[in-house]
Amino acid sequence: MTGTKDQRAERSGLRSREWFDNPDHPDMTALYLERYLNYGLSIEELQSDRPIIGIAQTGSDLAPCNRHHLVLAERVKDGIREAGGIPLEFPIHPIQETGKRPTAGLDRNLAYLSLVEVLYGYPIDGVVLTIGCDKTTPACLMAAATVNIPAIALSVGPMLNGWHKGRRVGSGTIIWKAREMLATGQIDYEGFIRLVASSSPSTGYCNTMGTATTMNSLTEALGMSLPGSAAIPAPHRDRQECAWETGRRIVEMVAVDRKPSDIMTPAAFHNAIRVNSALGGSTNAPIHINAIARHLGVELTLADWETLGAEVPLLVNLQPAGGYLGEDFHRAGGVPAVMGELLRNGLLEGTPVTANGRTVSQNVAESRSLDEDVIRTFDRPLAQAAGLVVLSGNLFANAVMKTSVISAQFRARYLSDSEAPNRFEGRAIVFDGPEDYHRRIDDPELGIGDDCILVMRGAGPVGYPGGAEVVNMRPSAALIAAGVDALPCIGDGRQSGTSGSPSILNASPEAAIGGGLALVRTGDIIRIDLAARRVDVLLDDDEIERRRAEVGDATPELAPESQTPWQEIQRGLVGQFDGGAVLENAVKYQRIAQT
Ligand code: FES
Ligand code: MG
Repeated sequence: MTGTKDQRAERSGLRSREWFDNPDHPDMTALYLERYLNYGLSIEELQSDRPIIGIAQTGSDLAPCNRHHLVLAERVKDGIREAGGIPLEFPIHPIQETGKRPTAGLDRNLAYLSLVEVLYGYPIDGVVLTIGCDKTTPACLMAAATVNIPAIALSVGPMLNGWHKGRRVGSGTIIWKAREMLATGQIDYEGFIRLVASSSPSTGYCNTMGTATTMNSLTEALGMSLPGSAAIPAPHRDRQECAWETGRRIVEMVAVDRKPSDIMTPAAFHNAIRVNSALGGSTNAPIHINAIARHLGVELTLADWETLGAEVPLLVNLQPAGGYLGEDFHRAGGVPAVMGELLRNGLLEGTPVTANGRTVSQNVAESRSLDEDVIRTFDRPLAQAAGLVVLSGNLFANAVMKTSVISAQFRARYLSDSEAPNRFEGRAIVFDGPEDYHRRIDDPELGIGDDCILVMRGAGPVGYPGGAEVVNMRPSAALIAAGVDALPCIGDGRQSGTSGSPSILNASPEAAIGGGLALVRTGDIIRIDLAARRVDVLLDDDEIERRRAEVGDATPELAPESQTPWQEIQRGLVGQFDGGAVLENAVKYQRIAQT
């Protein structure tokens, strides 16, 4: 043991000292020490008052989007060692967006819970969160928020651009197009598989502005990762350099005790909302960002997304809202270029302190687009007022719609009536979950035409455990063949951030717990009025009451039986999308490392 007891008492107050250097409890100290020595550490190191830095490892063979973190972690460790810390890497529950059944959404809260236990219960003074694939980012940030020890995120970075026959092919995004081509016979099964595979040429997360790029970018906008770090493609050498720098930085953050609550302030969240609009970010962002805020105790509602974000122009020309991919975004300056443009136009708070110890203004005031076709300037945006809009009406208390992806063709067909622009009435075709949709979408009996609105219910956090990304429904093959490639869609599920569909989704409360969508029937007329921010089924109040009495406040057919213990546990505790779909009991546990 090094130093006298008095000297030790004067030390930095690292929480790991409770385990490794606690003269008041020599027996426990000895037990803790001898087991961690098995890793090859020495007593001298563990009692040398160096911070123990956890590396929360999300990469694994089951999580290929994040798998490159297994390599990057070595450089993180180098950085931690160089700055005087001791790294301890540990796994967190894998989450892979497209491979997990029934949904990856189900696992976000499970990974959150398990990471909270690890950060709270082990001798960890600070943590590097290895983020990437969609839900890994919010799961890590939510846990860091709850525990509130110094934390910094390291993105794994996007894949290289995908190419097919000389054109950019975006991961995730291409699947929607390829499905249309398969449905209409333009390609066969093998052609379908090859086209989709061409979109993913390297390690890394989806190269489109899907949920992964969105959440990694918003982590940087929140200040929780190093400036300029989000967009670096996974295989680039500067991704490794960034890993090393992140490792060095967390040790300094522990030294000054800079915690998530010091960084993710209300102003930082407001910045994230505005950056999301400028990115053309995923409709999953409000769910995850609101969840992080709730675990920190920061007031943030869905209404804030409309108030702060709806009027912000779309600056980033990435698929699905635009044409480019992740490599292009990085070369054009990435998140700092976007934030610099917003800051110079008065749309960003410059004062929040970020993970590098500097403020937002200090980080990005001079950052500009290096390719103004990829990252636009304010005088030449891709679209004006391109944020998410928040809708309500007699079918749900609220739902969101991503306006940046409304195509000119869709706008012309549904939203250009000169009498009432932005208003549309259509005949509802109702599906109870994705299986029902797949079974019946091409059934000629439904008589689906371009006057229809597709409704998906039973797909929310309770109905389809975790919430399914299924609201963006393709029209029937017959309709696509006739030239109608998108119908208005409404639902209580989510949609993939890689989808270019202007669906109305995340409807809360969901049908499975008695939300208004449970009352709709095929053939009902639904009115969507974007200007008024309303969606209503055109039924009189008596009819709605009659149906309400018939349906009751629970609709078991919209919430099939749980298949695993966690499905049942989460269903009993999870809230709705508008509240971040968090485990409601967990929210009261805040800043627990200080208690
Ligand atoms: Fe993992 Fe897109 S599926 S990042
Ligand atoms: Mg997704």
